[in-house]
Amino acid sequence: MAKIIVTDRDGVDHELEGKEGWKVMEIIRDAGLPIEAACGGCCACATCHVYVDADWQDKLNAADEEEADMLDLALDVQDNSRLSCQVEFTAAMDGLKVTLAPE
Ligand code: FES
Repeated sequence: MAKIIVTDRDGVDHELEGKEGWKVMEIIRDAGLPIEAACGGCCACATCHVYVDADWQDKLNAADEEEADMLDLALDVQDNSRLSCQVEFTAAMDGLKVTLAPE
């Protein structure tokens, strides 16, 4: 089973099943972790903001322009910020680590 490790806002790690073809946001939401994802994955809200672990930052496809524009509106943006609804999980991403950004 491929997995994703998600660190919540209390610093607790959660090991989730990484479902291929799902957006990382969907996997986090499906597991019941507190990710708002207000727009449902349309790249229109930035409330699915996560920080990607340094080891993984270069392994993901870069954010496209739409995502980058929306990230500009997010709070506490860092170099490793991504909108998790714009990151599709693939088998190659087994072990991916992300941290939920502050609300
Ligand atoms: S869920 Fe709204 S931008 Fe990702």
